[in-house]
Amino acid sequence: MKSAKIVGLGKYLPPKRLGNHDLEKIVETSDEWIRTRTGIEERRLAEGQSASDLAYHASKQALKNAGIKSSDLDLIIVASITPDSFFPSTACRLQKLLKASKAAAFDILAACSGFVYGLTCGWQMISGGLYQNILVVGSEVLSVVTDWQDRSTCVLFGDGAGAAVLTQSNSKCFLSSHLGADGSRSDLLCLPAGGSRKPASHTTVEKKLHCIKMRGNELFRVAVRVMVDSARIALSKAGLKENDLDILIPHQANKRIIDSVARTLKIEDKVYINVSRYGNMSSASCAVALCEAYQDGKIKKGDIVVLDTFGGGLVWGSCVIKWV
Ligand code: COA
Repeated sequence: MKSAKIVGLGKYLPPKRLGNHDLEKIVETSDEWIRTRTGIEERRLAEGQSASDLAYHASKQALKNAGIKSSDLDLIIVASITPDSFFPSTACRLQKLLKASKAAAFDILAACSGFVYGLTCGWQMISGGLYQNILVVGSEVLSVVTDWQDRSTCVLFGDGAGAAVLTQSNSKCFLSSHLGADGSRSDLLCLPAGGSRKPASHTTVEKKLHCIKMRGNELFRVAVRVMVDSARIALSKAGLKENDLDILIPHQANKRIIDSVARTLKIEDKVYINVSRYGNMSSASCAVALCEAYQDGKIKKGDIVVLDTFGGGLVWGSCVIKWV
């Protein structure tokens, strides 16, 4: 049976930086509070660029690194909770920008786990023989759904995109995937309005219901538990144990969450962390972290790489990948 292999990675971070000291001028906060509670030092702002624009730059880099032409793509999957619009999908807009005329295209709404959900779909579609080349992207412009007067959330998020090109291969790269959800805890993190349940109105705008609402404290505890369980399940599905892992690429929401997960799994020296530079970029976080870890030489041939994500929905997802 054929399998899928990651052959190219790319990332794009918009150039505008917003440091903690800049935030001190907007809300009542401090660099010290943000750094000690979250590990974040700065984040990027897209400033007029949409999710498909960010996705375009990350995808171009991933395709170049893969040595694959956009015209050879069979499918484009974009994970985003900040799509350009509900429809056309961001994936369709990206297909146009890339001139990937042969490719089918669709979006995934799985919050911070979107990239892992997308990789899992891509892997299975290639393994099943449906497609040969698939582009999976996580792209977010969270700055447009951030309430810049709410200090409990505005210090946390940032904009960016990461992309991966998957192609059919005889080598087994994806060893396992574990995806999960708990819709009963959707109140912990959500964007209340703008959909069919609460359509946009003057009231929703006045009440800022188009901005992220979060119960951070409760979410923190759930995040640690779920990320630990998810990584363990994915590893055991691959027939592996925690100490077989070479590098953990976790969702980058908060350094304290990542440290807790790493401590529990006893893999403190095997974790890739870049949250200090970008904050939480939802679906783009894990995609960008994977790309950077690879570009920094932290992932070598034969390594067991575990992606481990968690986000609003609630959703979670982990992939075990052997780097071939
Ligand atoms: N600057 C200064 N003080 C702030 C602040 C800010 N930006 N945000 C909140 N505070 C204050 C609170 O008002 C509270 O003050 P009080 O004690 O006088 O009421 C105090 O800091 C502690 O707030 P608390 O919410 O308990 O802090 P915390 O240690 O839980 O950290 C988060 C807050 C949001 C950083 C943390 O809960 C978190 O990261 N949660 C998970 C978020 C997450 O992962 N989201 C995405 C999942 S994909």
